[in-house]
Amino acid sequence: MRSETELFESPPVAEPFLKWAGGKGQMLAQLEPFFPKAFKRYVEPFLGGGAVFFRQASVHSGLQAILSDSNVELINCYEGVRDRPDELMRALDLHAVNFSKTGAAYYYAVRTKRIVPNPVERAARMIFLNKTCFNGLWRVNSRGEFNVPIGSALPKEYYVGRNIMAASRALRRATLKAGDFEETLSQATDGDFVYVDPPYFPRSPTSSFTAYTAEIFGRTAQAKLAVCVAEAVLRGATAVLSNSDTPLIRELYGDFDIHEVTSRRAINAVGTDRGRVPELVIVAKKKSKRGRKLPSTSDGPAPGVS
Ligand SMILES: C[S@@+](CC[C@H](N)C(=O)[O-])C[C@H]1O[C@@H](n2cnc3c(N)ncnc32)[C@H](O)[C@@H]1O
Repeated sequence: MRSETELFESPPVAEPFLKWAGGKGQMLAQLEPFFPKAFKRYVEPFLGGGAVFFRQASVHSGLQAILSDSNVELINCYEGVRDRPDELMRALDLHAVNFSKTGAAYYYAVRTKRIVPNPVERAARMIFLNKTCFNGLWRVNSRGEFNVPIGSALPKEYYVGRNIMAASRALRRATLKAGDFEETLSQATDGDFVYVDPPYFPRSPTSSFTAYTAEIFGRTAQAKLAVCVAEAVLRGATAVLSNSDTPLIRELYGDFDIHEVTSRRAINAVGTDRGRVPELVIVAKKKSKRGRKLPSTSDGPAPGVS
């Protein structure tokens, strides 16, 4: 619920309103030094919880963005926040009231009810399930049905009103699309900044959580992604990628600058992969004929970006 102070305070910067597996909130300080300082448009084809987008929107006022993810429910949720934030918050208040009455029974009733025609109610359902389920996971079975059990630590709040309003503002200049990365990356062109954060290639066959949607993001998808990134770079975009430190990823991006960082993993199938895990940040830019990188577009602010 929104307090009166919240309604009248000056707008805060937005943060993710969902908990998301592989979310980059904890990694921002390590990632930002690799990002271009100015660019034309921000393109993010694996949006997830949007930690990087929201940070970029707070740094660059008036940020123009193309955002997508293959998770249809997720994109519907962003559209709800952008276009109908008040209605969405009212729907979440109703979930909170109902959940306080019957607890787990209500959670499982909402989880089972898959056909929700009203897009705002669908968005509220996603936020409610995300905040109430185990570990904030969004996992679906082969039929695309959300199947995560209720969590043990129940949420204090389903949303922060000021944050929903700030997220709504940040999303106003964004084009949102549910779909495969290929289509979004094909739109990236000269002067654009693309942040690419796909499901990571597993460090061992069982070490990674990759089933964000019904499809698995395996070797073939990683290779196709590397081709799409290289094409965007040839058209003049700058891409920064996150992925696992594995031979396949080092090989696929061997032509670009590869940096090692460490992350703190929260979600993993294998206990040994918990804690600090090495991963890669790859910076992909067009090179000049002599093999030197071309000057970046960060020499001066681009139109529409401060
Ligand atoms: C590592 S998460 C992104 C996390 C995000 N950077 C954040 O901070 O929350 C990967 C995302 O890729 C999406 N995804 C999986 N396969 C995809 C595909 N083929 N095309 C586009 N998105 C895909 C998943 O739905 C998931 O949201």
